[in-house]
Amino acid sequence: MSSAYPPIPAALEGSALVAEYAARTAGSARLATRARSMFPSGITHDARYIEPHGIYVTHAEGSHKWDVDGNEYVDYPGGHGALIHGHSHPDIVQAVQEQIGKGVHYGASSELELEWADCIQKLVPGAERIRFTNSGTESTQLALRLARAATGRSKVVRLMGHFHGWHDHAASGFLGQYDGSAARGVPDAVAREVILVPPGDVAAAAEALDEDIAAVILEPTGSIWGQVPVTPDYVRRLRELTAANGTLLIFDEVISGFRCAPGGAQQALGVTADLVALGKIVAGGLAGAAVAGRADVFAAMDFRQAAAAQVEKVFHMGTYNAAPATCAAGIACLRLVDSTDACQQAINYGDGLIEALNQVFAEEGVAWVSYGTFGGFHVFLNPEGIDTNRHRIEAGQYDRATLKAPVPAAISLKLRIGMLLHGVDIQGWPGAPVSAAHTEADRDQTVHAFRQTIHALRQEGDLP
Ligand SMILES: Cc1ncc(COP(=O)(O)O)c(C=O)c1O
Repeated sequence: MSSAYPPIPAALEGSALVAEYAARTAGSARLATRARSMFPSGITHDARYIEPHGIYVTHAEGSHKWDVDGNEYVDYPGGHGALIHGHSHPDIVQAVQEQIGKGVHYGASSELELEWADCIQKLVPGAERIRFTNSGTESTQLALRLARAATGRSKVVRLMGHFHGWHDHAASGFLGQYDGSAARGVPDAVAREVILVPPGDVAAAAEALDEDIAAVILEPTGSIWGQVPVTPDYVRRLRELTAANGTLLIFDEVISGFRCAPGGAQQALGVTADLVALGKIVAGGLAGAAVAGRADVFAAMDFRQAAAAQVEKVFHMGTYNAAPATCAAGIACLRLVDSTDACQQAINYGDGLIEALNQVFAEEGVAWVSYGTFGGFHVFLNPEGIDTNRHRIEAGQYDRATLKAPVPAAISLKLRIGMLLHGVDIQGWPGAPVSAAHTEADRDQTVHAFRQTIHALRQEGDLP
């Protein structure tokens, strides 16, 4: 078996854009080469995969970050969506610094976790009980287990393409396996416990809901945070159907939580789920997450209640659950969500950016469409050139096959590189969350970077 590392994708060979990027990020390139001997693809999170290499960041502040070569970027990934207040908000920095000096782990409870839970209960509808975890993945996993225990049923319904982290019950049916088969590395038996339904199809959901379905879990604004939007009406129908079937409705609000509105998608849509998985913003940028919801469901993991009911308790541990510094960051972050208009600022920024991008796309004569609601933006690269606009996409008129149709690798790879070259880091889908720290100047730079990248793609023959 050869151990030679494969060359860069053919789509990037001979590209002047890529060569300019490589010259500008020579320090990052060196680190990436070293990293490839340590990590698969040289990365520690699949969403950080960039060809020929990503940037290595030294520091960040507000809406900007800097790489090892001294390049400055408008930052959109924003801690993969965790940083609604931007990088290093002084309140969060101070809270964490003060707490770290008092100890990082007590191996016992602290009043901080009560304060953090208070913040959640104040903001999140239906958060009668809470359990802290360390990631969004852990939260959806725990929510599903709790649902199974509370209902005594074994299967769950998931929506094709919706993302709930990377654990076994969430893996198949996210990037493929829409036929119900198991994702590579996942046991067939686990995949069989997960029933996949097409998003937006009420009849399909109704048909799937039999007496063995413990829960329906979904991203309430659509898959991968609204890239393929679902309508509020569909979500309301799921609420009715699940209630009628004795099935729990779980909202995965890992990214929509504290972003769509201070109370998340539940507040924005006026629908209360039985359980909510929270992550990202909830912990202010540190590694923390939570499950919140109905007290009677959480009774399944309560020592006394389980004993009184003579049932086995659902066990749950986690060395870093509610670690003091994480609590401190979460409290500071959620107090800011509550006391400022950070959510609305991010929503307004995102909305303005979408409008500005669509104007550039029209001026430049590309069929791309920017869209998105609730504090972020997506770009539909529209490979078939269908005649549409942001409102039709946001209204849920298109399915995954249309909105996530494959685009030529040269376009998707070079778009990311072109944006970086012009000082803007977006996510690869393409799109990104935005924060309350983004400014008019950031918007102008982002629009400029898209325009320059379109010119470069044209020059290299990737766009007509
Ligand atoms: C909707 C959703 N659910 C779950 C997760 C997984 O969260 P984590 O990366 O903290 O495990 C994410 C992460 O992006 C997410 O966006």
